[in-house]
Amino acid sequence: MAVGTGIEDDLRAARARPPRARPPAAEAPAPFDVERVRGELPVFAPGGPGGPDAAAPPLVYLDSAASAQKPRAVIDAVARFYATGYSNVHRGLHPIAAAADAAYEGAREAVRRYLNAPQAGEVVFVRGATEAINLVAWSYLAPRLEPGDEVLVTELEHHANIVPWQLVCHAAGARLVAAPIDAAGDLDLAAFAERLGPRTRMVAVTQVSNALGTAVPVAEVVRLAHERGVPVLVDGAQAVPHGPVDVQALGCDFYALSGHKMYGPTGIGALWARGELLAAMPPYQGGGGMIRSVALAGTRFAPPPERFEAGTPHIVGAVGLAAAIEWLEALDWAAVAAHEERLVTSAVAALEAVPGVTVLGRPRRRVGVVSFVVDGVHPHDVGTVLAAEGVAVRAGHHCAQPLMERLGVPATTRASFALYNRQADVEALARGVARVRELFA
Ligand code: ALA
Repeated sequence: MAVGTGIEDDLRAARARPPRARPPAAEAPAPFDVERVRGELPVFAPGGPGGPDAAAPPLVYLDSAASAQKPRAVIDAVARFYATGYSNVHRGLHPIAAAADAAYEGAREAVRRYLNAPQAGEVVFVRGATEAINLVAWSYLAPRLEPGDEVLVTELEHHANIVPWQLVCHAAGARLVAAPIDAAGDLDLAAFAERLGPRTRMVAVTQVSNALGTAVPVAEVVRLAHERGVPVLVDGAQAVPHGPVDVQALGCDFYALSGHKMYGPTGIGALWARGELLAAMPPYQGGGGMIRSVALAGTRFAPPPERFEAGTPHIVGAVGLAAAIEWLEALDWAAVAAHEERLVTSAVAALEAVPGVTVLGRPRRRVGVVSFVVDGVHPHDVGTVLAAEGVAVRAGHHCAQPLMERLGVPATTRASFALYNRQADVEALARGVARVRELFA
């Protein structure tokens, strides 16, 4: 099995797999038709706030790392399901319930395909990456954690990949350890290896930093952790919008994702876990749908994934997520990757050309995100001026306060790019930042 060293390798591995429901890969990537894709998202289509006929200033959306805009295919799938296919799942004997069951389980299979996971039954639907990580923290790790044990994360992590581990560590008398980044914003692999100690019980690492865009060499992290028998959870929330992932090539044990960042609905996400680990994990929440039988004296639980899906699940969210995945699967990912990389590279150059602007981090591979500061101007003011110019960015600590502390800044302004962005968006960003400089000179 090919073992990749990061998102590039994931993409390569994904491309090398037997073809999915998408056009055969061309020899050289065909140019990516961003205008055609924009036409598939109502927000950028004629009549939308970012459309060609929008009143000035049209919406320039550079906040996709917070949440991505939605293709019509997703919106229509959700509306169609509510209108004509709706029922609860796993409970009904009537035909519409059987159709809803098929749609919901079909969505599980879509997630399996996107992650190249071995089995659909290893995919658990959750609210998002945050819930996926909490599930692993409480169901997998908490019962195994003893006083003095350690959980190893990195300085790049989002709070969602810090706080759940702190909670379980606190309950067990264990401690959280963070591997540092280097001056470029890359994970310091040597320091990471040093911090993997005899008490490390879990490694949890992001695949792509939401604040710097750093792509972490996850397969290498996994190799180092597995050499010491330590399982690895990958927070894939910021990776999955940028292409299919191959959990088998990564070699990780758990993978967490959020639907809303990959063009799907909010409130739905997935945890993939190795089948043997999932089978040994106790339920995370109790309720209907996760049992085999209940008596007042005790309950026998259903096997995974139902064991971890108590109550009526977010059925329509799963249907919308499947539509997002199908939409993504139809894209030429080599062309998308080249397009996104051009945008990010050009955004870094355009921002650095504005006097007084510093782009944070110089990672070996930057995916989708450019964080910057403007001398003497608070990021919230930068974000406010950009908003007035029609440019939507995020300003703040990005739920990555330990990383901000490491970088020595309280906050940054973050422009994040998705496949529907175009060069004109980079130019609007640069004009807006130049305007910030004029206003605060
Ligand atoms: N995690 C999301 C972000 O980075 C909300 O903006």
